[in-house]
Amino acid sequence: MVMSNETLPNAPHPLDLDLTGKVAVVTGSGRGLGLAYAAALAAAGAAAGAAVVVNDLDAGVAGAAAAAIEAAGGRAVAVAAAVGTTEAAQALVDGAVEAFGRLDVMVTNAGILRDKVLWKMTDEDFDAVVATHLRGTFTCARAAAVRMREQGEGGRLIMIGSPAGQRGNFGQTNYAAAKAGIAAMVRTWAMELAKAGITVNAVIPIAATAMTETIPAFAPYVEAMRQGAPLPDFLRKGEGFGTAEDCAALIPFLASDAAAGVTGQCVGIGGDKLALWSHPQEVAVAYADGGWRPETIAAGWAAGVGREPQTVGVPASAVPAGAAPTPAVPAPAVPGEGK
Ligand SMILES: NC(=O)c1ccc[n+]([C@@H]2O[C@H](COP(=O)([O-])OP(=O)(O)OC[C@H]3O[C@@H](n4cnc5c(N)ncnc54)[C@H](O)[C@@H]3O)[C@@H](O)[C@H]2O)c1
Repeated sequence: MVMSNETLPNAPHPLDLDLTGKVAVVTGSGRGLGLAYAAALAAAGAAAGAAVVVNDLDAGVAGAAAAAIEAAGGRAVAVAAAVGTTEAAQALVDGAVEAFGRLDVMVTNAGILRDKVLWKMTDEDFDAVVATHLRGTFTCARAAAVRMREQGEGGRLIMIGSPAGQRGNFGQTNYAAAKAGIAAMVRTWAMELAKAGITVNAVIPIAATAMTETIPAFAPYVEAMRQGAPLPDFLRKGEGFGTAEDCAALIPFLASDAAAGVTGQCVGIGGDKLALWSHPQEVAVAYADGGWRPETIAAGWAAGVGREPQTVGVPASAVPAGAAPTPAVPAPAVPGEGK
């Protein structure tokens, strides 16, 4: 159920969004969405925002990103590591503590794609994506939770999901499984960490990045945007598709005191759109005294609990016919092409 589809003006930032004195780690923040998240956290304050550990497996982009944040007046250090292992997670937490004395916010954003249909997907394709997204999120969240519980002042775990994990997506067995697992872990950790004052939420972003700019339905618009043209409303509002900076607005909010009561949620953001995702729940229920038998399920299915089957998949991009610039044939929606 859609609770609200209002369009709201931007308001000035109140004090409880000020992250001065907080320390954050953002994985995979050398480029793309992660870089936008790190920059937004570092700028979230009247004088200075959060101090940020910029992580990426690519040491060059991590260093450049940290330098850019510092050049803009923020505080940042780079820690190059491939997240997915306990050691890498600990190195990030240790990096935050060594450089800035504490840890308040962990954003698990590092990600890769290895899209293939089920019957072509190799063990390596599956394991690489699960290791980076699911294991990377688990190990980094665990290391952060240990440190935050020791500090005893609460904290923020902000895990990055995907529409593919919420609904499934053609060609993304590995990625959908990992992202759905992240949403499941968020719901679990929100319960486990509530007493420690640590909130745990998932962000479901959509943005033009290296990961998505080649999606055929969006590519011409991303190219036009790079040359200064605004993205049209059917993308910014209809698809919730915009820039990495659009998505970054949600991260300082979730990291802030203003979001102290927000936990266990999957929050979508992209373009002009902000959304709260539902969690899975039973939508149709029937009872049989003494239990069900195959023949009674079969006899009652179509008129009973199977009357309105749930849809699967991220809805295909609704690019209007004749819209300029002319897109290629619409493909499955963000992210990945389902090869
Ligand atoms: N772009 C979208 O529309 C979209 C939609 C849904 C979810 N996401 C998610 O958002 C996150 C960021 O995506 P993006 O579009 O910015 O991608 P991107 O490819 O532009 O950036 C990902 C970054 O993560 C780094 N990285 C990859 N594996 C790593 C590892 N093991 N350790 C450390 N760094 C690693 C890469 O070097 C890169 O800098 C991902 O988790 C992705 O699944 C993106």
